[in-house]
Amino acid sequence: MMSTSTDTLSQNLKSDENGESKSNDTEHLEGNKLLVKRRNCQDEFAPPSKSFKNDEHSTVVAAHYNHLEEKGLKERFKSPIFYVRNFNNWVKSVLIQEYTDKVREKDYGKPIMVLDICCGKGGDLSKWQKARVEKVIFADIADVSVQQCKIRYDDLHKRCGRLYSAEFIAADCTKETLRDKYSDPSINFDLVSCQFGLHYSFESLGQARRMLTNITECLRPGGYFFGTIPDAYEIISRTKKSADGSFGNRIYNIKLLFDSKTGYPLFGAKYDFHLEGVVDCPEFLVNFELFVKLAAEYGLELVYKARFSDFFKDHSDNYKQLLHRIICFESYPAPPGKELIGDEAEYEHAKQFWENMEKKNEHDHIGTMSMCEWEVATIYMAFAFKKQKSTWDSNGKPVYKLPQDEEKAE
Ligand SMILES: C[S@@+](CC[C@H](N)C(=O)[O-])C[C@H]1O[C@@H](n2cnc3c(N)ncnc32)[C@H](O)[C@@H]1O
Repeated sequence: MMSTSTDTLSQNLKSDENGESKSNDTEHLEGNKLLVKRRNCQDEFAPPSKSFKNDEHSTVVAAHYNHLEEKGLKERFKSPIFYVRNFNNWVKSVLIQEYTDKVREKDYGKPIMVLDICCGKGGDLSKWQKARVEKVIFADIADVSVQQCKIRYDDLHKRCGRLYSAEFIAADCTKETLRDKYSDPSINFDLVSCQFGLHYSFESLGQARRMLTNITECLRPGGYFFGTIPDAYEIISRTKKSADGSFGNRIYNIKLLFDSKTGYPLFGAKYDFHLEGVVDCPEFLVNFELFVKLAAEYGLELVYKARFSDFFKDHSDNYKQLLHRIICFESYPAPPGKELIGDEAEYEHAKQFWENMEKKNEHDHIGTMSMCEWEVATIYMAFAFKKQKSTWDSNGKPVYKLPQDEEKAE
């Protein structure tokens, strides 16, 4: 075997940070060790993921998101994923609120600087406004989406007068250096948010590294990096229950594009994700354990992680009004003159709950989601990291310390 190294993860996770993947290698995590194996030798681990040029995938992703139509409010009301979209927005709003609050708790009155990486068309523009931040840099690979994000920002500015300042960058965040593109490369972010986008960087180790460099390079010690991704564990466990490596329902479908019988590559574990009217392109599984270990090399300490089902349990009491305001749940039974979004069979759970309810009258309703939409919502997870303080060792490498450790030492 050519290069089965048993060095520690940090010694092994080397690759250049321009996003160049060592396309001949497969990487495997064993305990806290990453094993890099050459593909052209016989090995007992995972097979190489489907081969494709490194640039090809980014082009597919950018083209897909660039061509996604922006739906009007009326269209959105008719969408089969109306509630799950709203629920995803609720999760993002809560994350934004929670972490801006944490920054303020420590440093009241501090102008909050943000990087919204993989921002898309600016789905979070007004959430940043509500969080009263000072500045947001929006970056995404899809140039048309970035233009639309800027147009939406300008509209919002006209409508509400005072608004945070903003910059817009079209760049492949897994291959290019974002810092070079900021108007002030010495900016210090308090928050970096990456919503439903980080998994695209798990195409290769080099790309994941470049993404993490972009995320952490200007994030100040004590600042937070948070986001949402498809939960690889959930995808794998649903796949295992399926007969042909694909699963889904009337609104979504996931199909692994590699042979999982022989293992799961740590990078380039490609799958097709179709979600009605929103996503229809290949993505990559994020091995969360590996992600946490890799992130630690960039001074990021995991402070929160939850599947969306647990996220809901953790935050629904504190953010109940917001759940109602952005209509995350469907009324069951359907109000007079309205129809349920899914088939009656998808509401068996709600029906049982309703039937067991005491003291109800015909005008009472419960809030729920069809099983099909809930299955989509629970494919995702949320996470948050805190940036540690760094000093430098004699080899010029950063050594990270938690801000509270520093405080204790003082
Ligand atoms: C599902 S969308 C999420 C958009 C936005 N964050 C939101 O929550 O509404 C994923 C975004 O990731 C972006 N993306 C994918 N690969 C990227 C890359 N290599 N660099 C920057 N952005 C990327 C896509 O263009 C797309 O806009």
